[in-house]
Amino acid sequence: MEKPRFAFTILIAFLVWSSSFETCIAARRGRHWRQVSASLMTKKKTKSSHGSSGGQSHGGSSKQHKSPSSSHKSPLAPPSPAPVSSTPKYSPPAAPPVGSRGKSSGATYNVMDFGAQGDGSSDDTKAFEGAWAAACKVEASTVLVPEGYEFLVGPISFSGPYCQADITFQLNGKIYAPTESDVWGRGLLWWIEFTKLKGITIQGSGTIDGRGSVWWDQAPYDDPIDDGEEELAVPYSDTVEGGSTMPVRGEMSSSMPRIKPTALRFYGSFNVTVTGITIRNSPQCHLKFDNCVGVLVHDIAISSPGDSPNTDGIHLQNSKDVLIHSSDLACGDDCISIQTGCSNVYVHNLDCGPGHGISIGSLGRGNTKACVSNITVRDVNMHNTMNGVRIKTWQGGSGSVQGVMFSNIQVSEVQQPIVIDQFYCDKSTCKNQSSAVALSGITYERIRGTYTVKPVHFACSDNMPCVDVTLTAIELKPLQERYHIYDPFCWQTFGLLSTPTVPPIACLQIGKPSKNRIQSDHDYC
Ligand SMILES: *[C@@H]1O[C@H](CO)[C@@H](O)[C@H](O)[C@H]1NC(C)=O
Ligand SMILES: *[C@@H]1O[C@H](CO)[C@@H](O)[C@H](O)[C@H]1NC(C)=O
Ligand SMILES: *[C@@H]1O[C@H](CO)[C@@H](O)[C@H](O)[C@H]1NC(C)=O
Repeated sequence: MEKPRFAFTILIAFLVWSSSFETCIAARRGRHWRQVSASLMTKKKTKSSHGSSGGQSHGGSSKQHKSPSSSHKSPLAPPSPAPVSSTPKYSPPAAPPVGSRGKSSGATYNVMDFGAQGDGSSDDTKAFEGAWAAACKVEASTVLVPEGYEFLVGPISFSGPYCQADITFQLNGKIYAPTESDVWGRGLLWWIEFTKLKGITIQGSGTIDGRGSVWWDQAPYDDPIDDGEEELAVPYSDTVEGGSTMPVRGEMSSSMPRIKPTALRFYGSFNVTVTGITIRNSPQCHLKFDNCVGVLVHDIAISSPGDSPNTDGIHLQNSKDVLIHSSDLACGDDCISIQTGCSNVYVHNLDCGPGHGISIGSLGRGNTKACVSNITVRDVNMHNTMNGVRIKTWQGGSGSVQGVMFSNIQVSEVQQPIVIDQFYCDKSTCKNQSSAVALSGITYERIRGTYTVKPVHFACSDNMPCVDVTLTAIELKPLQERYHIYDPFCWQTFGLLSTPTVPPIACLQIGKPSKNRIQSDHDYC
């Protein structure tokens, strides 16, 4: 099968990035949410046979997942875009052939052969570890998680520095996270992680279910530092454990740790493919890529309730050459969040909602430097989301966001379809600071549909105005449901209206700022 063509020109390993503690999480204060009925595992009748026995190798018998057919797969088929007058700075590549990079060598390691019960209540973590250890040694091997079983799997790392390349994780069954607090110790940042692999594919019709409701209903601190791995080195003192190693009272020990895990995380890997699967009810982010080069995600579904706190869909950080398409993302926070260190990201044909829309940022938190470039988001259908397409940066940051194209975004009952916020703050007030992550070359074309609060909100930095903001064929109509509908807002936003817009966006300042932006070394990426 033809491999997707990614441009791997930038292989210099930027594996030590200036880290930032950007949140996976959008504004989170005062959010209320209903407790959703936990998708408690119903104990499935175990089949009398595990359907497999004997040798570890089931040569080539692993069931190949066919193109997704279930109802959640609804790749949009937007009308083919009419040519527009402005040429995007970066033209996205033709979509590579759909399909997995994973090639099977025929060596298949079925978790059932490593002692998994698949009954939904026995702890199958060890079996998964065993199957992985075996597959790790064989190039292009397959770990098979068979259909028709439910696996209870605790926090697990499929770690790869010494594994062979091109392993496929064939997920046809269902994997559930444990809900007992003791399994999670004092808090883990992820549940299932794959690290330092070359060529790793997760595919299949299976499901990864984080059973997050037990985490969502207790967010008393609600100040997650989520992505700040480094920050976690600092012990948190105000948790229920209070730093004590002694067992705590029964009622206390039943509460989940303050740090909530991401369901599925890839770290430091090349050529990662995720396709076919469903990830649902994560305690926090559903799918995260961190320090990866060459990421392909397609035909997946992410699903958690719209009011589940901080449950981003897909989170990208320090990753390059990323293609995400034909997927259905429904969650309680950003459908996709693109963080610092990302470039050459192409996202298309998605369904997003409920959720907070697609965000670049937040960036520059805690005076950090953020660099994001060459991002294309097109042919996305958003419904009932908080935002549509948004760029958010904290005051005091540095670095830049350059070359962003949002094209053919259909919004329906979206509060604010188009947002740039350089005063992002998740508290009630943040210190005013003059430096900012510089924004330039931001193109919006064919953003259409209905909004409920404000069509366009551009709040750019006084010292670092947004430049080259281009708007083409914007058609946004209010849905008269709210008490108040706001007019478009712009502050220090410069650029071009290449067609008339609905509503008129008179606040955009045509051309360039009169005085040059204050540039200094720290703005360059
Ligand atoms: C990733 O895939 C590309 C295209 O298939 C290939 O050229 C490249 O060598 C792969 N990179 C690694 C590190 O395996
Ligand atoms: C921008 O990203 C796309 C992938 O979305 C890539 O094909 C293209 O080469 C990149 N452009 C530049 C200038 O790096
Ligand atoms: C920050 O600046 C804005 C606008 O100049 C002003 O209204 C606000 O009071 C300032 N906030 C603080 C915390 O100084």
